[in-house]
Amino acid sequence: MRLAQLTDIHLPIPSAPTASELLGKRLFGYLSWTRNRKYRHRLDPLERIVADCRQAAPALTVISGDLINISLQSEFSAALQWLGNHFEYSQVAYCPGNHDAYVRTPWHTGLGLLSPYMSGERDGGPQVRAPRGPEDFPFVRKIGALSVVLANSSPPTLPCLATGRLGSAQIDAIGRTLSAQGAAGQCRILVLHHPLTDEAAPRRKALDDRKALRSVVHDAGVELVLHGHTHWPVWASVQTRDGPRPVVGGGSASHPTAHGKYRPARYNLFSIEGDAAAGWRIEVEARELDPASGEVKTAERRILLSPQK
Ligand SMILES: [Fe+2]
Ligand SMILES: [Fe+2]
Repeated sequence: MRLAQLTDIHLPIPSAPTASELLGKRLFGYLSWTRNRKYRHRLDPLERIVADCRQAAPALTVISGDLINISLQSEFSAALQWLGNHFEYSQVAYCPGNHDAYVRTPWHTGLGLLSPYMSGERDGGPQVRAPRGPEDFPFVRKIGALSVVLANSSPPTLPCLATGRLGSAQIDAIGRTLSAQGAAGQCRILVLHHPLTDEAAPRRKALDDRKALRSVVHDAGVELVLHGHTHWPVWASVQTRDGPRPVVGGGSASHPTAHGKYRPARYNLFSIEGDAAAGWRIEVEARELDPASGEVKTAERRILLSPQK
């Protein structure tokens, strides 16, 4: 079975914000967008990445946050339209990033607009439903033997901070969910925006309660953890009761070129085989834009988990 991860898409801001929309933290974000970020996140490379991803026809595409930039209502509407133009609801599962919760916004004109892409099993039951608010996480998308558990690590923060926080209730729910899915013999993939390892982000951008999350993940077990936020690829691991398990941070899907640690637009395509009794085998292909030719090619291939590991 194949699963794709796209992250940190940062769709263009569709129109100039009004003065009242720019009061407070959004002003900093808008200046950063107009001076720098709008040149680093482009639609053309993104469209090429998405076309390649669609051709690969994964069973599910996860988007690990930062679809937009400063949480304007116009951005949420544009993001909903962009998603609808490229994917069916059932093909995508999304979790919010810090730029999707840049400031506090009303649910029904903000993040809630993206609810169809955050629908899944909740509260430990089999009933699939949309979230009722930003605290209504995690949710599970089940595709055959795959259980993808998506969390919300992105409450709004003060200016100049891009930290994440899950909160103890959500961390406990993640633990219960991973345990239940593991007991059911499912291959468990945890997805959140912020990295759970210490090295991937400086304190200003880190997940505040990553230690508590790692403890729960250790006890419950997991087969793979995916995150975004760094904008460059991360290959790491987390300790679990079953041994180390892979942690993969995705590079941004909209960079036109390489730049320092940053790679051109890319996404991860995972192949997952096996079962709980024999063990899971997970391989990843990082598909990346070649800026010279405009083609998307395999940049690297790694075996992340095998029954022997
Ligand atoms: Fe981002
Ligand atoms: Fe982020």
